[in-house]
Amino acid sequence: MNGFEKDLEEFLRPVGSKRPEVERVSQDKRVVALASGTSAVHLALIACGIKPEDEVIVQSFTFCASSHPITYLGATPVFVDSEMDTWNMDPELMEEAIKDRIVKTGKKPRAIVPVALYGMPYQIDRILEIADKYEIPVIEDAAEGFGSKFNGQVLGTFGKYGVLSFNGNKMITTSGGGALITPDEESWREIMMYATQYRESYPYYQHEKIRFNYRMSNICAGIERGQMTVVNDHIAHHKHVQKLYEELLKDVKGVTVHSQPGTGEYDSNYWLCTITLDPELRIKRQENAYKTIVTGAVGGAAGVIHAASSAVTDCQPNDNVEALRVALDLAGIEARPVWKPMHKQPCYKDAPAYTNGVSEAIFKISMCLPAGPYVSDDDVKYIVETIKANILG
Ligand SMILES: Cc1ncc(COP(=O)(O)O)c(C=O)c1O
Repeated sequence: MNGFEKDLEEFLRPVGSKRPEVERVSQDKRVVALASGTSAVHLALIACGIKPEDEVIVQSFTFCASSHPITYLGATPVFVDSEMDTWNMDPELMEEAIKDRIVKTGKKPRAIVPVALYGMPYQIDRILEIADKYEIPVIEDAAEGFGSKFNGQVLGTFGKYGVLSFNGNKMITTSGGGALITPDEESWREIMMYATQYRESYPYYQHEKIRFNYRMSNICAGIERGQMTVVNDHIAHHKHVQKLYEELLKDVKGVTVHSQPGTGEYDSNYWLCTITLDPELRIKRQENAYKTIVTGAVGGAAGVIHAASSAVTDCQPNDNVEALRVALDLAGIEARPVWKPMHKQPCYKDAPAYTNGVSEAIFKISMCLPAGPYVSDDDVKYIVETIKANILG
């Protein structure tokens, strides 16, 4: 165990929680630091016993790392759409999906993966209630929700397993890294073995199972220890930036800042701040949207090592969203579309999906605005002024 894992375990423990059951659950949790959040999802699925013939319920509105590891195991992702309030997995639709899969396949899905989209907590109380009813383990993908809370409890500590990411763009980072929150000492030991090629304790290399080289390096763990000293400042800053966007955009017609439900349970880290644009809102040079193939690095390697065959797809953000993205880019501001739902991705065209139109509709009208630790109040003002300056009429 390294120092970073100790720091994480400390961080995940609720301090002075008024609910004894929260304190108790979290006491047993142990953390394994890994090379990435993706490897954490992968190991959690293996620990839940996922086999090629199995199905796993996963939130459709997410980054591909929530679902791809299901396919690494030869299993099938079953995508479930979102609810409007949090943009996260709709628990009622999730239950419908469970029931329908039982009817269609004769067996229940083997795990459930809700995702804290942009840091927003999911309705974990309801999700757990349903998951418990069907005795299906929950793997929380809290990669984007490090430090977000539901009812005062940190995300990642509710489900059987919890996934964290310390990728370059996350709340704290080593440039790349992740962690898996495990339920207890026994699971922790097993995951530790999974992450270190299942090397048995002999003076030579003895492997009783085929497993992975997924451990976080000592150098990255050292950097993370430094990052842990600023994590609370980072979270406070992200929340401050969100408040500023809410304040400065509140009177801008046609632009809405996505905020957590005001019901008291939700405490988002606001990893990324997101806005929606009314489809009627006219943006300057909107008529030029999607006229040329992107050659920059939007979404990673796009246009750099793999040219797109067309400037458009059958499911993309509205023209006004794309026009605003381009306008912000020209002003030196990196805004991005929100994640394209997995059930709309060509690579998942054959996967079962339970949809209600929510994630697809949000994808078409939304974008992420800069929110990192270096985004100053003046930057937010400049971003908002640039948005206003590009609205027609
Ligand atoms: C929702 C979600 N899950 C999983 C991951 C995977 O994390 P990593 O990039 O560390 O593999 C990410 C982010 O990158 C993510 O956004």
